[in-house]
Order: sequence, then structure tokens, then C-alpha cells
Amino acid sequence: MKIALIGNGAIAKLVSQFCAERPSRYTLVGALGLSEDSDSVGAHTVVYTLKDLLAYSPDLVVECAGHSAVSAYAVPLLEQGVDQIIVSTGSLADASLLKAITHASEKSTAKVKLPAGALPGVDALSSAKLAGLARVTLRSAKPPHAWKGTPAESSHDLGAIKAPVVIFSGTAREAATAFPKNANVAATAALAGIGFEKTTVELVADPGLARNTHHLEAEGTFGSMTLDIAGNPSPDNPKTSHMAALSIMRLLDNETAGIVI
Ligand SMILES: NC(=O)c1ccc[n+]([C@@H]2O[C@H](COP(=O)([O-])OP(=O)(O)OC[C@H]3O[C@@H](n4cnc5c(N)ncnc54)[C@H](O)[C@@H]3O)[C@@H](O)[C@H]2O)c1
Repeated sequence: MKIALIGNGAIAKLVSQFCAERPSRYTLVGALGLSEDSDSVGAHTVVYTLKDLLAYSPDLVVECAGHSAVSAYAVPLLEQGVDQIIVSTGSLADASLLKAITHASEKSTAKVKLPAGALPGVDALSSAKLAGLARVTLRSAKPPHAWKGTPAESSHDLGAIKAPVVIFSGTAREAATAFPKNANVAATAALAGIGFEKTTVELVADPGLARNTHHLEAEGTFGSMTLDIAGNPSPDNPKTSHMAALSIMRLLDNETAGIVI
């Protein structure tokens, strides 16, 4: 299977290693990057336009770049009939972008596949949705310094926080809009479950934490569930959970496996 990447960072490196270790199943044909990405994270070549990436005729393109890449390339990939995995799911909180991707997917033979990323229990949540969900809440907590560069920096004195503080409370759409760099997990929960307006999100600065944690609760016809994850960071990017790359690898595994789970 011919795989291409969009992005040349921490996740791209792990996906590249995964493919290189399974040469009978995957060939990583190239990556689309920005001008600063001249040193490839793997043995593949970095190109700078979608046209050059598609010249490698990939069977599947893995976006592991950021929201701007989803805006620029998701619809063109569907129009070219190429399957894609989108890990920057927070981009889909933009209703007009999600509408354009949905519309393009309906006219295309290609599919957009969304990995669980750093969120636990996407399989259970999306199964539960089929019988009806009454409530989905997500509480994402990080050490105070991890909220630097977000609106929490102006609403709270992050350095002075001595006990867990809720820095944001609202819908998944509001969370994704106000905290775009932290939006992926909330967006994935919304997309797997009951949508951006009905999914409620709390963001917490907790000085007792060393790792990012996500606590998901859901109730519905299926029953109720509570899921917790404390994710280790990626080896090359402390802001990205290792699980993000692992969840892409799981989708790639399912593309070529005889038994899919
Ligand atoms: N779904 C999840 O739970 C989850 C978790 C973590 C990260 N993510 C997403 O994964 C993305 C990648 O994570 P990472 O740790 O590898 O980041 P990174 O910063 O290590 O690497 C990003 C790479 O993408 C490139 N890039 C950025 N914008 C681009 C564009 N428009 N076109 C082409 N290349 C572009 C950068 O130059 C860089 O090489 C993050 O931006 C985030 O949106 C999702």
C-alpha cells in the first residue's frame, strides 16, 4: 500500500518508522511539508505542493500537519479520489469546512478516516450513538504551563495556580474555537458522539499533573461509561500525545489486515 504524509513532524516520524518496519505492507512514497521541512523525518522525499505529492500515486494520504493543511488539502484529495486520514480533527469544528468536506465526500469514491487520536473509547462512543446518546462530557486537564499561549493565559495567572482550576467550560464547538491548538480531542468526541453543540467540555489547569489527561463520560440507551486516559507525550513533541500517532498506525494496520478490530 502506498502511503503519503502531509506533515514532517513528530507524528510523521513515528508513522514513517511504522511503515519502514513493515516494508511488505507499506511504502511511504513522500511527504508534503512547509519550506522549513527540508530535512525529511524518514527515508522519503519531502515535496511542497499537493500536485507533487499526488504524482507518487498514493493509495492513502495521512494528514499529520495541522488545521491549515486540512483546510487546504482535504477537499482536493477527495476530488482526486484519494483516501485520507485526518488527525487534526479540531479543524472540523469549522462548520463550513466540515460541510465542504462532507459534500466532497458524497461525490467521491474516496473516504476520510478519523483516528481516535488522544481520546479514549471512540469505538464505544460511536457505537453507543447508534442507539441514542443523552449526554457526553469531556474534561481535559493539563499542567498549568501547558495552557501557555492560550486564552487561559489572560484569564488566569497560570504560574500562581496551586490547585485544579477550570479555565474553560462550554460546548465542544466553543472549546475548539477558543482553544484551537487544544481542540482535537474535544472535536473527536463531538464527531464520534452527539456533535459539537451537545458535547460539553471543561478544560482544567491542574498543578498536580505531569501528563495530559482526558476524562470522558457518556450516557444513553446503551448504558453509561466513564473513560480516563493519562497520555505520555510523543518522543519528539511534548504537546502531542504518543497515542495520536499510535491511533493512526491502528488505522493503517486495519487497511492491510485480514482481521480488522
Ligand atoms: N487528534 C488528536 O488527538 C491529535 C493529537 C495530537 C496532535 N494532533 C494534530 O496533529 C498535528 C501534527 O502533530 P505533530 O506533533 O506531528 O506536530 P509537529 O509540529 O511536530 O509537526 C507538524 C508538521 O506539519 C508541517 N505543517 C504544518 N502546516 C502544514 C501545512 N499547511 N502543509 C504542510 N505541512 C504543514 C510542519 O511544518 C511540521 O513538519 C497537530 O498540529 C495536531 O493538529 C491531533
